[in-house]
Amino acid sequence: MKTVLAVSDVSKAFGGLQVLTKINLQVNESEILGLVGPNGAGKTTLFNILSGAMKADTGQISLFGTDIQHKKAFEIAKLGLVRTFQVVRPFPNMTCSENLEVAIISSSRPCASKAKFIQELLEMVGLQASSSAIARSLTLMQKKKLEIARALATSPKVLLLDEVMSGLNSTEMNEAIALLHSLKRERGLTIIWIEHVMKAVMSTADRVTVLHQGQILKVATPAEVAHDPKVIEVYLGSNEHA
Ligand SMILES: Nc1ncnc2c1ncn2[C@@H]1O[C@H](COP(=O)(O)OP(=O)(O)OP(=O)(O)O)[C@@H](O)[C@H]1O
Ligand SMILES: [Mg+2]
Repeated sequence: MKTVLAVSDVSKAFGGLQVLTKINLQVNESEILGLVGPNGAGKTTLFNILSGAMKADTGQISLFGTDIQHKKAFEIAKLGLVRTFQVVRPFPNMTCSENLEVAIISSSRPCASKAKFIQELLEMVGLQASSSAIARSLTLMQKKKLEIARALATSPKVLLLDEVMSGLNSTEMNEAIALLHSLKRERGLTIIWIEHVMKAVMSTADRVTVLHQGQILKVATPAEVAHDPKVIEVYLGSNEHA
């Protein structure tokens, strides 16, 4: 199995608060890696560091064999890694198509036909019918889809998803799970997926990483994670996110 992303001994503190401690993680090509853990565990901070929005205090990060810990977010995006945000942030007064156009232009990737690519992106996430809808008028599910489409507009190889399923009903969640599967299967995307909805992670991820107080508690298959006594004690047993 090919490693696309390797994180070694990454630590981060905010003032006196140690948020991440010696994180070590290898992510395989075309896998869906779930990233779970209680509120404040450091999940979003890890995404901020991987995507270049924030710098780690120590440690190395290698993406397709290139060290990226000192690179800027746009350079990392060019190498193929992008993230979505926990709070969706499309341009509210633009249509879905316009939002995607901006994302394509700002990615500065060569694109033969922008209109065709926009259509393709809308179809990929199931937003064809909403191409000219204004972003702020979309439902939460549609906003999440648009957020994913905006990330896909940069033609990533590694996609970081921060809680794309929160607030969705079970039908919408199944739709979102199907979308993740198709991105993996049809596009060969590697996906790291922060998610509080355990049912969704456990049924979808190839492997799951459990982060607890800034440390990795376990990286294993969903079944192994679900049966790990330590994980049950600190996380699954709390019922907080059942
Ligand atoms: N920019 C920042 N400055 C100071 N403290 C921060 C900053 N960002 C995050 N923190 C703190 O770091 C810790 C980890 O936050 P983080 O957002 O990474 O957690 P999380 O696992 O994503 O939580 P949630 O599940 O609630 O989204 C929290 O205690 C948070 O308050
Ligand atoms: Mg978070």
